[in-house]
Amino acid sequence: MSVHYRVGMRFYDALSGERCVYRSGRERGVQLLGLRAGDTVVDLGCGTGLSFALLVDAVGPNGRVIGADASDAMLKVARRRVAKNGWSTVSLVNADALHVTGDDLPAGRVDAVFSSYALSVMADPVGAMERAVSLVKRGGRMGIVDMQRPTGMARVFTPFALAATAAGGADIDAHPWEWLKLHATDFSEDTRRGGHIVVAAGTLS
Ligand SMILES: C[S@@+](CC[C@H](N)C(=O)[O-])C[C@H]1O[C@@H](n2cnc3c(N)ncnc32)[C@H](O)[C@@H]1O
Repeated sequence: MSVHYRVGMRFYDALSGERCVYRSGRERGVQLLGLRAGDTVVDLGCGTGLSFALLVDAVGPNGRVIGADASDAMLKVARRRVAKNGWSTVSLVNADALHVTGDDLPAGRVDAVFSSYALSVMADPVGAMERAVSLVKRGGRMGIVDMQRPTGMARVFTPFALAATAAGGADIDAHPWEWLKLHATDFSEDTRRGGHIVVAAGTLS
């Protein structure tokens, strides 16, 4: 895990380009994941919980959102967000995506795993996704929101995209959705912000 997430991340939300760039990806990502009321979903590498509001709405009052992250500093901010919003359906666990097992989760096997802007930060994104499969019930879903170099006309913004991802400790060329494309039965994909944000979802066999 990058040093960025082990030290205090008090300013992460302010510096992450959330409003102008990255929120659109998490909105589309949750939509594409297709959660149903009552589902339990793990937000893998949940960080400060910027996707929680969307996930809480998607699973409704009988569902559960489990935020999992390896950084105490990020989880501390996430915990404050959960308390401030009174989200009784959200629980948080300190877990490394490369080693997490069902025993680490308060719910056993879950309906879906969602990961936004986190797999490209991890040392072994494929290892993390393989581990995530073991957390999901048969026929469960996986949703990924992550980054690549801008495409088409937006390629002029590549230096900004490289700077933003490097600042966050992400590998812009990790392309974790490529793994999901090979392992999901009904893979679907979309992009946002000039192709810089890739949103993908699929059902795990
Ligand atoms: C760029 S942040 C994204 C946070 C959040 N998902 C979002 O959309 O804003 C990446 C997160 O991945 C977490 N992370 C990195 N490596 C991890 C690992 N091996 N296991 C669990 N979390 C990890 C970091 O602590 C950090 O909170």
